[in-house]
Amino acid sequence: MDTIHIQGKIALQGKVRIQGSKNASLPILAATLLTGDNSVIRNCPRIADVYSMVSLLKSLGCGVHWQENGIVIDSSSVRKCEMAEEAVTGMRSSLCLLGALIGRCGEVVMEHPGGCVIGARPIDMHLSALEQMGVGFTEKDGRLRAEASGLHGAVICLPFPSVGATENVILAGVMAEGDTVLEGAALEPEVLALCRYLRCCGAVIEQNAKGRLVIRGGRRLRGCEFNVPADRIVAGTYLFGCIGIGGSVLLEEAPREEMGAVIEAAKQMGGQVCCSPEGIYVQAPMRPNPVQLETAPYPGFPTDLQSVALAVETLGNGCSCIKETIFENRFRIVEDLEKMNAKIRIGDSRSVCVQGVEALHGAEVCARELRGGAALVVAGLMAEGETVVKGCQYIYRGYENIGRDFRELGARVASV
Ligand code: UD1
Repeated sequence: MDTIHIQGKIALQGKVRIQGSKNASLPILAATLLTGDNSVIRNCPRIADVYSMVSLLKSLGCGVHWQENGIVIDSSSVRKCEMAEEAVTGMRSSLCLLGALIGRCGEVVMEHPGGCVIGARPIDMHLSALEQMGVGFTEKDGRLRAEASGLHGAVICLPFPSVGATENVILAGVMAEGDTVLEGAALEPEVLALCRYLRCCGAVIEQNAKGRLVIRGGRRLRGCEFNVPADRIVAGTYLFGCIGIGGSVLLEEAPREEMGAVIEAAKQMGGQVCCSPEGIYVQAPMRPNPVQLETAPYPGFPTDLQSVALAVETLGNGCSCIKETIFENRFRIVEDLEKMNAKIRIGDSRSVCVQGVEALHGAEVCARELRGGAALVVAGLMAEGETVVKGCQYIYRGYENIGRDFRELGARVASV
């Protein structure tokens, strides 16, 4: 399944159901540790990152039981606060176990977390925020040890709305003594989904529109049943995919209320987009219009859809400029797109200009990270002839089965 073969240039038709959100389910799975009880997390996507999080929870002593549309996590007997090296270095989001384990056990030992190679991805904001809540950090043999004997609330101001740091403060904050006021918090829909899960467990978390969260600590939590929302990034991938490839599709259960900037960009590209209670319906233009895009924290245009938008504009009717403001190193697919006849000029490490061409040609390309990999699959579907995308293990970290989803829309895609 590490290679995907694509016969391009077949317009998409039909409907596809959007899977549950990766970035919502991972911190929620970590948060189940705080309850010491049974939680049922429904609509969790069956993706590699969820499997890694589940095995980390098992290694910590949780009971895990998969149901047809959910995972039951029993965190009544957590034995350990030490995380296996392989699991942590392979997955950046294992970092949210830092806040959860500090909240649960007051102690954690872990490696520096990994994840996709899309920039340096430091963890200074996580460490400084948790330090203000009474956590002490030491490093021994390359491993990070965190200890908090008296975890307490604090007034914390994040210099940038980091999603992961916000989640760690929330996870530690609900277990801390007293209130935590977090200014400059990230308010991505996935952060709000974590807050909803925790409220459902009995936590008190208040939010105002200006990025301030007040987490009232020290409440006793219990398990609950929770439905993970649909994945706005997967929905956006197929929405832009349709605009680049052609055709008309219905994205069933797509979370349209979280996709304002994405739908706006799709309309600027010339797509006709209609939202209904069923989901999002999109009809592609003859050729995408060029766009000026800049990634930004929510509600801005998501960095996780920048590569797919870039791939679509390789066939645009003019010159598009795309600026990446969140992560450096997120233009690694340029080289592969150029192999397919794309004309892209890299301005600085943060921006590119794409001059749309009449046709892309199939080629052998290689996924190097999750979102760039999905963008290469979309480019293959837009190209004439056959494209072979290698390295697809990265794509399965976040997409349940991208080949199956595009096949449902009539594309010729084989995963081998
Ligand atoms: C999360 C998402 C990822 C998304 C990103 C931005 C998950 C599992 N992943 O990643 O898909 O692309 O939000 O929406 O939810 N930074 C620091 N110091 C820190 C923390 C972050 O400098 O301590 C920087 C990062 O290098 C980056 C920026 O802040 O440049 C944003 O990172 P952050 O919001 O923390 O992203 P993640 O939580 O890692």
